[in-house]
Amino acid sequence: MSKSIIIYHSQSGNTKKIADMIQKAVCGEMASVAESVSLADFDTVFIGTPNWSGTATPDVKGFLGSCDLSGKTVVPFCTHGMGGLQNIATDITALCPSSDVKACFAIKGAEADGAEGSVRAWLTEIGLL
Ligand SMILES: Cc1cc2nc3c(=O)[nH]c(=O)nc-3n(C[C@H](O)[C@H](O)[C@H](O)COP(=O)(O)O)c2cc1C
Repeated sequence: MSKSIIIYHSQSGNTKKIADMIQKAVCGEMASVAESVSLADFDTVFIGTPNWSGTATPDVKGFLGSCDLSGKTVVPFCTHGMGGLQNIATDITALCPSSDVKACFAIKGAEADGAEGSVRAWLTEIGLL
């Protein structure tokens, strides 16, 4: 059974709502990107970010650049405004060159409240539910 941790950055709460839905579905541990956590015990690392200027936030990029995710499954998710996913998936993939990076979940921040069905469908599609 794979062990998951959900790490997220959320300034106004939208991305945290998606993180909570993922946690409910996969029963993983959860931490904000500002916390220092050891990833040694986890083989699946969810990483959530808002879209800031077309990409992941500096905190999320800094986190991905500073930890060793080689051999792990990395599962990105994001919330956004009018821009959509933009460069988030490609930029996260580039920061995790030795990881199995799954398809990124993306939804408008304003629609995060009703996202549970979409979150579960995405988790099923990528084989994690
Ligand atoms: C500094 C900043 C930059 C943003 N840039 C974009 C952007 O380029 N494209 C976009 O679609 N949304 C953009 N947004 C909107 C956020 O991605 C959106 O509101 C998101 O749901 C916020 O997530 P949070 O509540 O978890 O912080 C930006 C928001 C902020 C605060």
